[in-house]
Parts: sequence; structure tokens; C-alpha cells
Amino acid sequence: MKVSIIYFTESGNTAKAAEIIKDGMMKVEGTEVKLFGLDAIDEEYVAASDAVLFGAPTYYAGVAWQLVKFFHETKIPFAGKLGAAFSTAGYEQGGSEVVLSDIISFMMSKGMLCYSGGTALGQPFTHLGANGFSDRIEDRREVFKALGQRVAAKAKELFE
Ligand SMILES: Cc1cc2nc3c(=O)[nH]c(=O)nc-3n(C[C@H](O)[C@H](O)[C@H](O)COP(=O)(O)O)c2cc1C
Repeated sequence: MKVSIIYFTESGNTAKAAEIIKDGMMKVEGTEVKLFGLDAIDEEYVAASDAVLFGAPTYYAGVAWQLVKFFHETKIPFAGKLGAAFSTAGYEQGGSEVVLSDIISFMMSKGMLCYSGGTALGQPFTHLGANGFSDRIEDRREVFKALGQRVAAKAKELFE
């Protein structure tokens, strides 16, 4: 089962979160995960993926414009794939949950099925996705890892 993680990063925090999510996904047997920054997306691999996760930094309490631009312009067929969101921010009350919610709106608009596991699988709760803060991404390892593992397990259940 192929999975893609697509993200924008400027100073590396969101890339670090993506790596931790990948660690969580790799716990699900048979999962092949590739990470893509916006400037180097293998569109064929993404199109063949059963699940695609999107991550962005928080800019002015919203999705960094680079990922917004990607969503506006991409022709990759995302419909029917499982989707999930993650974000990073400078500080807890800086708007990172708005970013999760807006990424979910983009995914829904493109016909994706959105998932996180929410509270149904116990702690750590993942509600709208996973978020972490500036140079403290590692502190949120369990949340990012749980999101990855849960999304990979659900994709396997749905598509294999
Ligand atoms: C232009 C700009 C706007 C930002 N706006 C916010 C904000 O509104 N709230 C917040 O918590 N952090 C804000 N930040 C901080 C980034 O969201 C945070 O450092 C993020 O982890 C950067 O991700 P990256 O290292 O993947 O580029 C902003 C950073 C930049 C460069």
C-alpha cells in the first residue's frame, strides 16, 4: 500500500513532523511511505497512493500560502483517497488548529475521505489531526506518530 505525505516547510519544523508521521505509518505492515516537499512531488506515486497526508506551517493563523497555492493549482486526482492533516506553529494559540481545519476543507473539496481517529482510539486524541510547535516538535512525537499509524491502519482496512 502506497502512502504520500505532502508538506511545505521553510525552516524545517513541518518536515520534522512529517518524518515522525512516517515512523508511525511504517508500524503498519505493508505500508510504503514517501515524503514530498512541494517542489519535488512524484505525481505518479501520489496518484497511486491510497492515503495522502498534508502538512503546513501556520502563517497569520492560516495555512501557509504555498500549500494553499498547491491546492488551488494541482491536477493530481485526490478523489476517493484517505486524507489527513498536520500543522506546525510558533505557539499553541497561534492558529494551528485553523490550519488543520482548512486543510480538511481542501481535502473534502477534492473528494477525499478525511480521517484522524479522533477520540475513538484513546490517547493521544487527534481530533482534527496533529499539530506541533516551533522547535518543540519532538515533544509531540506521540501525537504525530499516532496520527500516522491510525491513518495507515485505516487505509489498509479500507483499500486492501
Ligand atoms: C510569515 C510567517 C507567519 C507566521 N504566522 C504564525 C502565526 O500566525 N501563528 C503561529 O503560531 N506561528 C506563526 N509563524 C511561525 C511558524 O508557523 C512556525 O515557525 C512553523 O513551525 C514554521 O514551519 P517550518 O519550520 O516547517 O517552516 C509564522 C511564521 C512565518 C514565517
